[in-house]
Amino acid sequence: MITWIKSGELVDPVQGVVEKADLIIERGKISKILPPGVFEDREHRLRVIDASGRLVIPGLVDMHVHLREPGHEYKETIETGGRAAVAGGVTALACMPNTIPPNDSRSVTEFVLEQSKRANLARVYPIAAITMGQKGETLTEFGDLKEAGAVAVSDDGFPVVNSEVMRRALEYANHQGLVVISHSEDISLSSAGMMHEGVVSTRIGLPGIPAASEEIMIFREISLARLTGCPVHIAHVSTAGSVELIRRAKDDRIPVTAETAPHYFSLDHNAVMGYDTNAKVKPPLRTKDDVFAIKKGLAEGVIDVIASDHAPHSPLEKELEFDKAAFGMIGLQTTLPLTLQLVREGILKLGEAIRKLSYNPASILEVSGGRLVEGVQADLALIDPEYEYILKKEDILSKSKNSPFIGKALRGRNEMTMVGGKIVWERNKAHSGR
Ligand code: DOR
Ligand code: ZN
Repeated sequence: MITWIKSGELVDPVQGVVEKADLIIERGKISKILPPGVFEDREHRLRVIDASGRLVIPGLVDMHVHLREPGHEYKETIETGGRAAVAGGVTALACMPNTIPPNDSRSVTEFVLEQSKRANLARVYPIAAITMGQKGETLTEFGDLKEAGAVAVSDDGFPVVNSEVMRRALEYANHQGLVVISHSEDISLSSAGMMHEGVVSTRIGLPGIPAASEEIMIFREISLARLTGCPVHIAHVSTAGSVELIRRAKDDRIPVTAETAPHYFSLDHNAVMGYDTNAKVKPPLRTKDDVFAIKKGLAEGVIDVIASDHAPHSPLEKELEFDKAAFGMIGLQTTLPLTLQLVREGILKLGEAIRKLSYNPASILEVSGGRLVEGVQADLALIDPEYEYILKKEDILSKSKNSPFIGKALRGRNEMTMVGGKIVWERNKAHSGR
C-alpha cells in the first residue's frame, strides 16, 4: 500500500526547516517529499491521510524509559509501555536494565527484544547493565550484550560507586561501540533524602538530597571521560551546577553528552509541598533557579536530549506515606506537550525541540530515526501543537498512572503515530500494532 500524507507542516529537525509538504510512503519508507499541489492520485489507489493543520514530525526517540518487564509486570509491560509510547508520539525507545532480574545477560536482552516484537508497537532498544546485578562490582559481557541487541550500557537507578569500575566500563564500552549512560548520584550524600535539599525540604521537614550529590558524580564522569577519551552520556540532569560542569567539559572537547527530563524544566521542588508522592523522583525536582538553568542549558546546546525517564509505579508503591513511596514518575505521554511549552516560551525553536526529542538521542545510540527525508523509515507522528486539554487519568495508557501532571492543563498532543509506514496509534481508534 502507498500512503500519501497530505498538506501537513513538515518538520525536519536537522535542516531546521518547517514547511508545508506532501509525503509519499512506500514499503515502510518515505519515498518522496513534494511541495503541496504537485502530487496527484489520479487512480485513487492511495491511502490518503489528511494532515492539514498538523505538524508532521519524526517520531520521538525516547532514550530513557523504564518498562518493568521482566519482574514487575503489574507496573508496566513491554506492551503497555509500548502503547503509552506510541500514544505519546514515541516511535522508538531505549529501556533501562533495572528489571527483575536486571538486564545483565544475553538472555534478558533477547527476552526484551522478543516481547517487543510480539507487542509490535514502538521500536524497543534494550540498554544493558554496566555491572552484574547492577551491584557496581563486576562488568557485564559488553560484547555479548551488544551482539544480542543492546544499544548502550547503564546501571540506571543506581550509580557505579567505584571509579575504577566506571573507568574500565568506559574503556570497554568504547571498544565495543557502546555508549555508557551515567546515573550520576553520590549515594553517601543522597542516602536518606527524599526531595531536593533546600528551603522547601526544611519547611516541610523532609530529608534532602543536595545538588552536590549529582554534581560530584558528573564531575567524576567528566574526569574519567577526559582521562580515557571515551564518551559518556549523563542521564537526567537536574541542577544549574551540573549544566555548568557539562558546558565546561564540552568547551574542553571532552566527549560528553547530556539529557534532561521534562519534569526538570516544568516543575520545581514546590510541587512536593502537598506531599504528592507523584512528585517524588530521583534526581529530585530542584529550585526555580535550577529550572531556569536547565532551560538555558537546552537553549545553548549544553543539554542535547530530552527523554522522559518514564518510571511507572503502582498505588502499592505510591499511595503511601511520602518516606515509604518509590521514586519516579511516568512520562511517555507528557514529554511532547511539555517540550512544546519550551517552544512557546521562546527557549527552543520548533526544529531544535524536535531534534532533542528524536535526532540527537538516535545519533547518541546510533539507531535510526529523527529525520524526515526521502529514503528513511517512515517513523513519524502527526501532532496538533496547540490543542489545549486537562490531562485525565483515563487518557493514560501506561499501566501505572503516577503522573504529577494529571489534572493539569497541557497544550499540544499527538494525533497519529506511524512506525515503519504502518499506523500503530490513532486518536479514537483501536490498533493491533505494526
Ligand atoms: O525516580 C527514579 N525512578 N529514578 C531512577 O533513577 C530510577 C527510577 C525507577 O526505576 O523507578
Ligand atoms: Zn536514573
